[in-house]
Amino acid sequence: MKLFDVYPLNDVTIVKAVGSYVWDDKGTKYLDLYGGHAVISIGHTNPHWVKRIEDQMHLISFYSNSIKIPLQQELADKLGKVSGKEDYQLFLCNSGAEANENALKLASFYNGRKKIIAFKKAFHGRTSLAVAATDNPSIVAPVNETTNVLFLPFNDETALQRTFAQHEIAAVIVEGIQGVGGINVAADSFLQTIRSLCDQHNAVYIADSVQCGYGRSGLFYSHDFAGVDADIYTMAKGMGNGFPIGAIAIAPKFAAKHFMLGTTFGGNHLACAAALAVLEVMEQEQLMSNATEIGEYLMTVLRTFPNIVEVRGKGLMIGIELPESKKHVKNNLLHKHHIFTGEAKPNVIRLLPALNITKAEADLFLKAIKIELEA
Ligand SMILES: Cc1ncc(COP(=O)(O)O)c(C=O)c1O
Repeated sequence: MKLFDVYPLNDVTIVKAVGSYVWDDKGTKYLDLYGGHAVISIGHTNPHWVKRIEDQMHLISFYSNSIKIPLQQELADKLGKVSGKEDYQLFLCNSGAEANENALKLASFYNGRKKIIAFKKAFHGRTSLAVAATDNPSIVAPVNETTNVLFLPFNDETALQRTFAQHEIAAVIVEGIQGVGGINVAADSFLQTIRSLCDQHNAVYIADSVQCGYGRSGLFYSHDFAGVDADIYTMAKGMGNGFPIGAIAIAPKFAAKHFMLGTTFGGNHLACAAALAVLEVMEQEQLMSNATEIGEYLMTVLRTFPNIVEVRGKGLMIGIELPESKKHVKNNLLHKHHIFTGEAKPNVIRLLPALNITKAEADLFLKAIKIELEA
């Protein structure tokens, strides 16, 4: 059997990882500023995380959601505390797409409506409704096509107001910082307008925090910068530091009914142990402050470098837009300097490192990219 060939691959085989470093099968060491696509939040193979999962594995790894799993409540309590949303309710699932799919369903169950507002360049995942709300027709199969999703320009408050006046809206789904779209930061006033329009029209504000959440921006949810609460926050990626887990945090006004949502694997013992370990390390090592500090340092220095169109982002979610003449820089960083970064089309380098990256590690990157930009 061969693999279904859906990913263009870098010719690198990683066999070992510690903190912000990974090693290939030839022993070459790489600095990882990509974090396996924003997933590695507390560093690769973090010892507390390894131990928590290992200890749990010796007790029990999985049983179905038909029994009590106290680890789920422990996780809900901890997440409520660290995120500052203690009165929200937690539903656990396995991935970002699943989190968004459940959030959109819950919104529609709540107000009985069908129309969803999403934004240009948005990415929300690959399941049927999540992909329909993703602005990339090439990954939308004919069966996923729907007239229920309205795409508006990002950060355009007038378009929002006009659309709310014309349609009965079930939900608005928005990334606080667009990731796949190229690191575009939502304006505070844009998110505030979404909040007030949803309030006026009984629509649901869904904050897709799958990539921009979990402390990466320096606040727990990047939407928090706007100073208003969303009705539902969706999360995954950094939540398990590589152990698959996703979730939605649901405002108190939503009442649960048995079987309205459900999952086999979501909230299993091992996933909860992994997610608890992440929050414990984030709290103990004050990783959100580190994200703010190192992120500001990186962006301040990058803005002094030549041949950059724009540096965008918050905390450790940073986009470096390069001119066409510098589009080879990402490849050179990997092959010449052994530094992994992410990308967004057409020419944006995306930095999504572990939240405990050090200043010395940031300096290694700055030195390498400066050489490439000046070359
Ligand atoms: C903002 C956002 N939402 C949702 C997803 C989908 O997450 P997953 O790949 O875990 O389904 C992604 C993945 O990149 C994302 O960046």
